[in-house]
Amino acid sequence: MKRMLSGVKPTGRLTLGNYIGAIRQFIQYQDEYEMFIFIANMHAITIPCDPKQLRQNSKDMIALYLALGLDPEKTTLFLQSDLPQHTELGWIMTCHSYMGELQRMTQYKDKTAKGEAGITAGLFTYPALMAADILMYDADYVPVGVDQKQHVELARDLAERFNHRYGDTFVVPEPIVQKVGAKIMSLQNPTKKMSKSEDNPKATIDLLDEPNVARKKIMSAVTDSLGVIRYDVENQPGIANLLTILSALNNEAIEGIVKRYEGKGYGELKKEVGQTVFDFLSDLQEKYRAIIASSIMDDALREGSEKAGKIAYKKVAKVKRKLGLSVVK
Ligand code: AMP
Ligand code: TRP
Repeated sequence: MKRMLSGVKPTGRLTLGNYIGAIRQFIQYQDEYEMFIFIANMHAITIPCDPKQLRQNSKDMIALYLALGLDPEKTTLFLQSDLPQHTELGWIMTCHSYMGELQRMTQYKDKTAKGEAGITAGLFTYPALMAADILMYDADYVPVGVDQKQHVELARDLAERFNHRYGDTFVVPEPIVQKVGAKIMSLQNPTKKMSKSEDNPKATIDLLDEPNVARKKIMSAVTDSLGVIRYDVENQPGIANLLTILSALNNEAIEGIVKRYEGKGYGELKKEVGQTVFDFLSDLQEKYRAIIASSIMDDALREGSEKAGKIAYKKVAKVKRKLGLSVVK
């Protein structure tokens, strides 16, 4: 069975964008692949984090993953910080990355271009840690949103570089970017990505939003004045976004939805999207509350880090041997 791995940073709360763009894929793929999913909390601290918030976000995230359908019998679920090998291999990857490569990473580039204050060295080197996360488990495939593709490409380069210098050590991973719904946009500014770090709460749907509040956010989503329901990202980004959300949550092709809405208005479309989101969140949150009240989460994490830990231990030992870092056989 081929291996697949992905991680999500526990910064802010999970949004509908995270679900449609990333988590939904994890759930679908767990039957087909040997899955590894982890909470990338060492990545979260590249920007200032409130410890209480970080802990709460991480817990919510794990509970939501399980509520969304991640099955700990099929998927190895763990917390990155529970396995020190990640930072160990991360350092080794940092030492094999060039300054130029890291300077080209858009996240860092954008922040420096904006002249943001307080950019940490961790934010600069984190793609090397991400490469370590991936290469540690010999992942064949890495499902990510479009914005993360560049980092998986760096992981590929590092795997090839390492294999070339020291002999076959890592599997060269491939990014998988989902087509429909790969990018869910802000409800208030549909040319911008829906993001959990967004300031305007009306722009984003949190998976833990009160379902009624979420419905209202859909009803007040920014659209356009053209008045025709078409999938046209360029000219009607707001409508395209609503169609994408509906298509993803209902598993219905966009063309079919557009046909159903021939001659109908935006209000009707918003009503259906609002109801769909309402139903989706109500069902999800009921499961989430049951998980929080049980020991399912603790059990899944314990088993997950045990399994991942064994692989990580072996991999780092091998890498250390290859690099001449270990002196005993
Ligand atoms: P982030 O929220 O930026 O930490 O991203 C976590 C994962 O969710 C990554 O795979 C992102 O690409 C994906 N993701 C985040 N926001 C969106 C969005 N609005 N639409 C689609 N995918 C997203
Ligand atoms: N950097 C990713 C993000 O911002 C999270 C992440 C960390 C990740 N390590 C990973 C994703 C390894 C895929 C594989 O969301």
